[in-house]
Amino acid sequence: MKVLMVCLGNICRSPLAEGILKSKSDQFFVDSAGTADYHLGKAPDPRSILEASKHGIDIKDQKARQVVPDDFDRFDVIFAMDPSVLEDLKQMAPTDAHKEKIKLILENNPKTNAVPDPYYDGPEGFAFVYDLLDKALEDFVQNPVFP
Ligand code: 4NP
Repeated sequence: MKVLMVCLGNICRSPLAEGILKSKSDQFFVDSAGTADYHLGKAPDPRSILEASKHGIDIKDQKARQVVPDDFDRFDVIFAMDPSVLEDLKQMAPTDAHKEKIKLILENNPKTNAVPDPYYDGPEGFAFVYDLLDKALEDFVQNPVFP
């Protein structure tokens, strides 16, 4: 099963989501991408690299890329980090069947449906993002539901 994590820039949230899911299970092929092209080819934000390393996860070799049309065929589930990313992905999806693969990563979180963009925050924003993603992905590994 193939899982794609998507945020805006592919340097803060989705690289963490990719690293966390890979650390929890080797049952999935996991990749990440951004809806925007601001940071193509760049490593994750140093604050994401640091937060991951605090949990024994190494994400420094990831490289930012943009979502491409083929992703909607290649991946079984595409996790959006927030509702605005979800809307952008739905606009990009070639068909309605492809749209069904797109889900909010926090869809089962009763408190919030958005992993907040930590780009303009301090390190505590990255720790908060890590905790949200860690809980959501623990649930996913326990009960992997594919569209
Ligand atoms: P991400 O965070 O979507 O979690 O990677 C952002 C990174 C960069 C920008 C916005 C969000 N930016 O505007 O450059």
